[in-house]
Amino acid sequence: MPEAFEQAINLQDLELLAQHNLDQNAWEYYSSGADDQITLSENRLAFARLKLRPRFLVDVSRVDTRVSLLGLNLSSPICAAPTAFHGLAHGEAELASARAFQKFGSIFTLSTLSNTPLEGVGQAAGHHFWFQLYVYKDRELTKALVQRAEQSGAKALALTVDAPYFGHRELNERHHFQLPSHLSVSNSGAANDMGSQDANQGSQLAAYARRLLNSRLTWADLEWLRSITHLPILVKGILTAEDAVLALEHGASGIWVSNHGGRQLDSAVSTLEALPEIVQAVGDQLEVVLDGGVRRGTDILKALALGARAVFLGRPVLWGLAAGGEAGVTKMLNVLQTELELAMALSGKVTLADLKPDLIFRSIF
Ligand code: FNR
Ligand code: LAC
Repeated sequence: MPEAFEQAINLQDLELLAQHNLDQNAWEYYSSGADDQITLSENRLAFARLKLRPRFLVDVSRVDTRVSLLGLNLSSPICAAPTAFHGLAHGEAELASARAFQKFGSIFTLSTLSNTPLEGVGQAAGHHFWFQLYVYKDRELTKALVQRAEQSGAKALALTVDAPYFGHRELNERHHFQLPSHLSVSNSGAANDMGSQDANQGSQLAAYARRLLNSRLTWADLEWLRSITHLPILVKGILTAEDAVLALEHGASGIWVSNHGGRQLDSAVSTLEALPEIVQAVGDQLEVVLDGGVRRGTDILKALALGARAVFLGRPVLWGLAAGGEAGVTKMLNVLQTELELAMALSGKVTLADLKPDLIFRSIF
């Protein structure tokens, strides 16, 4: 297998290595979408359907992928979406992933549901990361999480709004997904760990969420969150112009277009298809980012051309981590960054600001 790691040349190679290295419980948790997994595949298909209009005879001997995002200067628009339980992939868990993104120079978003306490991850990330928030029924616990994130150097909060309950990931239900006993939900305290009380017939995570997470959130809670933090807040999971406008009205600083990697409402629109109406509605007032199915440099070109400022990767981070720890995540990032730079050069674009809607071919049929 180390030989195969050296030979991996794209993200799919890393996915195969990850599948080989992971046990069934972990692999099914990472890879699953909800129900028939229609949205999971649509996220990829939407990228495949869009065609590009390359321009030529532009000096592309140097391309520049730097971008600023909510006031942070990044070397690349390739960032990490929050994913729970990196400990299922590697012993160093979130610390390894955070270090890889810190060295790469973009943003690592830490999930509330990490296996490593957020203070340690903040340090590994050079006190330069984003924190994804799940709101617990227990408001004091939630408030404490926000304060700890601030103190650990989080530069923004991503409030996930698409998961009042977790979607029905059938393999996880069927095979009773659970956290192995050496791992814990480290941020919420021992009293709130995923334990025997969640070991019902289905997924242990789904039971945990029903027991502890708040399924009654409304837009008023975004204002509550604003009242307890000075950090900018992105609303993660937006798929319509209507909700983007509401997010703006309730004080969000950014919109994170996402369908949770196809793990929540199945048949929800793909993120690339949702992006244009959202950019049109709020793009001149808020920064818009996207995740879901980004696997190629050309995918990044398409998302940025349609108005996303940056893209976020969920599963590919876990594949890199499972394939080779920190070095695996770094490899994943380098592969995608090289693809992005080549795609820019081959389409005659020198900076990310050159990626505009005219790069996208409009179907004539
Ligand atoms: C996620 N996602 C997620 N989102 C979130 O807000 N909090 C979380 O804890 C998690 N956990 C999580 C675990 C796993 C295994 C996956 C695959 C996804 C969703 C994630 O942030 C992101 O929206 C999608 O993963 C993006 O799609 P891709 O890149 O995986 O296709
Ligand atoms: C998931 C949660 C943790 O998608 O967001 O599994």
